[in-house]
Amino acid sequence: MDVPLEQAARLIYPRVTIVVTSVDSVERVNAAPYSWVMPISFQPPMLIVGIQARETKTVKNIKQMKEFVVNVVTKDWAQKAVNCETKGIEDKLNEFGLETVDCEKVKVPCIKDAKIVLECKLNEIAHPQGADHYIVVGEIVAARKDESVKNQDIVMHLSGPDFILPGEEIKLERKK
Ligand SMILES: Cc1cc2nc3c(=O)[nH]c(=O)nc-3n(C[C@H](O)[C@H](O)[C@H](O)COP(=O)(O)O)c2cc1C
Repeated sequence: MDVPLEQAARLIYPRVTIVVTSVDSVERVNAAPYSWVMPISFQPPMLIVGIQARETKTVKNIKQMKEFVVNVVTKDWAQKAVNCETKGIEDKLNEFGLETVDCEKVKVPCIKDAKIVLECKLNEIAHPQGADHYIVVGEIVAARKDESVKNQDIVMHLSGPDFILPGEEIKLERKK
């Protein structure tokens, strides 16, 4: 079955769901969910997030403060995370009942409920020719994982309102 080309990006799934926290110049915290995210370097450790090429709060904050935090979403706070997509709310965290705690290496706080946290300093914001998303490149300057987190708790985004939790784990031989 052919898929309309504007839907092609959705064939690369499931993708891990994250909330990016960021701050403005007076340290007001913003939070928004994303799932176009992947690592791109081990050394130095870096990741990229695909973010709509317009002045969203997240983009404005990251451009200005050059820092952001990736909070991996688990089942226990998934609905609150997705609620943070909402536009036009000044304090989404308060509105949706999410608390933050200070980070180690960046001024941006992380979500208290987040069990996997990657603190990032902005490396660059690239805009591939013609693309409707920026590539936001972050160098990971601190990373932590709560030992209680299970792979099955991590919320993966399919598309739209559809999500999935990882099920069966399999091992495959890797020929070196
Ligand atoms: C599960 C989920 C995944 C999303 N993934 C992305 C994404 O990868 N890139 C993107 O630009 N927007 C994504 N969005 C939409 C943003 O969250 C949305 O544009 C948001 O309003 C941005 O908030 P801000 O203006 O506070 O930065 C996603 C939304 C949801 C619910």
